[in-house]
Order: sequence, then C-alpha cells, then structure tokens
Amino acid sequence: MLLPDLAFTFQTDRGVFSHGHLDSGTAFLLQHAPAPPQTGTFVDIGCGAGPIALTLALRSPSAQVIAVDPNARARELTKQNALDNAVAITTLHPDDVAEEMTVDLIWSNPPIRIGKAALRTLLIEWLHRLSKDGLAVFVVNRHLGADSLHRWLEDEGWSVARIGSRSGFRLLTVRRQPN
Ligand SMILES: C[S@@+](CC[C@H](N)C(=O)[O-])C[C@H]1O[C@@H](n2cnc3c(N)ncnc32)[C@H](O)[C@@H]1O
Repeated sequence: MLLPDLAFTFQTDRGVFSHGHLDSGTAFLLQHAPAPPQTGTFVDIGCGAGPIALTLALRSPSAQVIAVDPNARARELTKQNALDNAVAITTLHPDDVAEEMTVDLIWSNPPIRIGKAALRTLLIEWLHRLSKDGLAVFVVNRHLGADSLHRWLEDEGWSVARIGSRSGFRLLTVRRQPN
C-alpha cells in the first residue's frame, strides 16, 4: 500500500473482505481522511485484513488502535499484519468490546452487507462511544446508501460533513453537535 506519507504491505486471504487487493473505498479513506491525532483511542470498525488499523497505527504510533471484526480470520490477519509492520494493534470480536469504552477516533469502511437497519444500529452504537471532541470517518458507496445514511445521521442529531466524493464513494465525517 503506497500512501503519500507511508508505504506498507499486508497479507489478505480468501473469505476476508477485499482478498488480494486494497478496496478502492478504503484507499480513498486512507488518502483523504484528516490526519489522526498523535494519541488517543482509535477504532477501525470492521477491520478485515487491517489496512485501516495499520495506517492509523503507523501514522500515530503512540495511539491505542483497536481493530474490531466478527470474522476470526480477519482478526488473525490483522494481528499478523501488525506484527509484520512492527505496530501495536488490539483485535477484538464485537461481543468483547467493553460497554464503557470511549473512543477518540473511528475510521471505518463499514459492513454495508449486514443490511441497512443493522448497519445503522452498529454505527450509532459506536458513535455513542465517541469522546466529546471525537471524530468518526466513514467511507460509503453512494450506490450502497451513503447519501441516505448521511441524512439519517443528521436527523439523529449528529454533525455530518461530506469531506470527499470520488468514483461513487462518499467520505463522511461525523461528530457530536456542539452544545
Ligand atoms: C467493508 S469490509 C472492510 C474491511 C477492511 N476495513 C478494509 O477496508 O479492507 C467490512 C468488515 O466489517 C466486518 N463486520 C461485519 N459485521 C461487523 C460488526 N457487527 N462489527 C464489526 N465489523 C463487522 C466484516 O467482517 C468485514 O470485514
């Protein structure tokens, strides 16, 4: 993976999202998301083989990076890829995420395939974990409901901005409304 500021390699496997290549939506996120803070707790929701978590860990080596995925092989690949790139990433099954966990930054190419209702529930659960000034960055394909997700999150009271749009992908930032 070649980004303006870093390069790394990572293993993928059959049965894990985006086998053999980097998804173009993920690449868009990695190229255009605002630089992460130096420290804090960061989460990649739906890590797959880990390219997003790896980028966070390489860009912010002092942050705690957590990669969440129900797919055991995805977690295994992310762990191995973290070792191979000499970074620290904690992998978790979604059921093992502590209820009280607070998160400063979320980057995710979320699992659209779980269906609209499940996806919205998942994203809201995570957004409620954001710290006061926390930020979430999501990449979603327009054909898979990015614009309706954007409107829905606003209706739910979140501050949403489209910070990029390319080849049908929308890059959305989500934060708490200022009080
Ligand atoms: C679109 S893929 C993104 C994978 C990886 N982040 C990437 O960019 O290559 C979404 C991932 O979400 C995972 N997933 C499915 N349900 C999930 C859930 N409830 N919580 C977290 N991740 C989930 C899938 O197993 C899949 O690996």
